[in-house]
Amino acid sequence: APLAILISGRGSNMASLLEAARAADCPYEVVLVASNNPDAPGLAFARDAGIATFAHSHKGLARADFDAIIDAELRKAGARYVALAGYMRILSEGFVAGWAGRMVNIHPSLLPLYKGLDTHGRAIAAGDAEGGCSVHLVTAELDDGEVIAQARVPIRPGDTAETLADRVLIEEHRLYPEALAAYIRDHG
Ligand code: GRF
Repeated sequence: APLAILISGRGSNMASLLEAARAADCPYEVVLVASNNPDAPGLAFARDAGIATFAHSHKGLARADFDAIIDAELRKAGARYVALAGYMRILSEGFVAGWAGRMVNIHPSLLPLYKGLDTHGRAIAAGDAEGGCSVHLVTAELDDGEVIAQARVPIRPGDTAETLADRVLIEEHRLYPEALAAYIRDHG
């Protein structure tokens, strides 16, 4: 199935999705990487990998107007699924409705815990024994849609938000392609 990936920054999860797409039995092919940040390092990575990219700054645009620009690009590229990968924009309801059941996100916490930012710092401050990441369907509510897969890691004494983020990120890179592929196989 044709997949578009939305990024805002580094794009390491995007890279893991691109890497997995090289396998002959992968059920998705990446048709576009799009960003609200023209300087996102992940865009250059995608371009070098031969993937079509689109970038348009959201600055100065109403949220719905910006989302309509992205939506038009996704449809022009023929995307059937959308994967958010470090996409740091709240999405408008209209955009989300247009991709209901076909847009997923990866979030660096064990949802429903710690929606939003600073997930690792909050997990450590709470004294949690485990952190992790979740792949979930995207709804209009931030980090709130149905969870389709999770991975857990231990939180160790002396962990900082950075050391925990590094440990979780390894799991993100494994979990996201696997969960997305399984979801697309089930949903066509
Ligand atoms: C990841 O931790 C992701 O879970 C979160 O933002 C980070 C993005 O990293 N939503 P990258 O751009 O994929 O490297």
